[in-house]
Amino acid sequence: MSRPHVYVTRRIPDAGLRLLEAVCEVRVNPEDRPLSRAELLAAVAQADGVIGLLTDRIDAEFFEAAQRLKGYANYAVGFDNIDVAEATRRRIPVSNTPDVLTLATAELAWALLFAVARRVVETDAAMRSGAWSGWGPLQFIGLDVTGKTLGLFGAGRIGLAMARMAQGFAMPILYCNRSPNPAMEELGARRVSFEELLAASDFISIHSPLTPQTRHVFDHAAFSRMKRTAVLVNTARGPVIKEDDLVAALREGLIAGAGLDVYEFEPRMAEGLAACANAVLLPHVGSATHSARNGMAELAAQNLLAMLRGDRPPTILNPDVLDR
Ligand code: DGY
Repeated sequence: MSRPHVYVTRRIPDAGLRLLEAVCEVRVNPEDRPLSRAELLAAVAQADGVIGLLTDRIDAEFFEAAQRLKGYANYAVGFDNIDVAEATRRRIPVSNTPDVLTLATAELAWALLFAVARRVVETDAAMRSGAWSGWGPLQFIGLDVTGKTLGLFGAGRIGLAMARMAQGFAMPILYCNRSPNPAMEELGARRVSFEELLAASDFISIHSPLTPQTRHVFDHAAFSRMKRTAVLVNTARGPVIKEDDLVAALREGLIAGAGLDVYEFEPRMAEGLAACANAVLLPHVGSATHSARNGMAELAAQNLLAMLRGDRPPTILNPDVLDR
């Protein structure tokens, strides 16, 4: 029996490739860059299965180009790049990579929170440039974290991990989520409206998916309702924040600071953001630990192999296609 053909749109860790190579003919984008749209559509023409990235748009045009496709596995937990309804209409299973990157992403959100609160990047720069002239009582004063209120926008796996870690800092926790999360309530977290989250939080960390409902919810109106001493952290998806409005809020002191790992128009940043000393800016590295990225590679491969066999993939996004 001939081996299925799999295309991987950008090199992923070997842990995943090895699983695929054991049973499939695997082709990997030879260059370490995202494919252009035309390259992607051409590359998947003969593929029975594809592993793609959050930068690949998986929509009707993609499915038209990939006529042999039996399944698509996203190498990401976020799946706003996939038109899941279209995949379901075509009865093509699609999957993502939850769980394996939960702790890595929550840890990075904490790294950003502390980096902004205690001005870690700014003070590191002062040391490197030789600007520091010795200890001073009024230098580089930052914000307290312990005992301050943590607001979580989104209370899925990563929001919950963030809340668990917050126990160590004795932080009261508020969360804003479409539905109550009993595991959050067990931690003593209180579900509140978006208005209350904005008004009462000292730190807000975004952990929601990007959907039409969450796009641009953090805009000028939202920043004006936050505490002027508050810090906003985003490790989820950039467009949840209206980035131009954030730059204005950081400049005008509507909020104290922001820690960002994701951007509205990646890899670009809004004009003026790079000049904001009260922002810490990272290049979308929430899941960038060895265990998380290996876990994502293995899970994406397991999902795709199950799809190719006609079995139920471990983390399928459209189980309806199997039930019919
Ligand atoms: C995801 O998985 O959605 C992250 O943004 C990248 O790991």
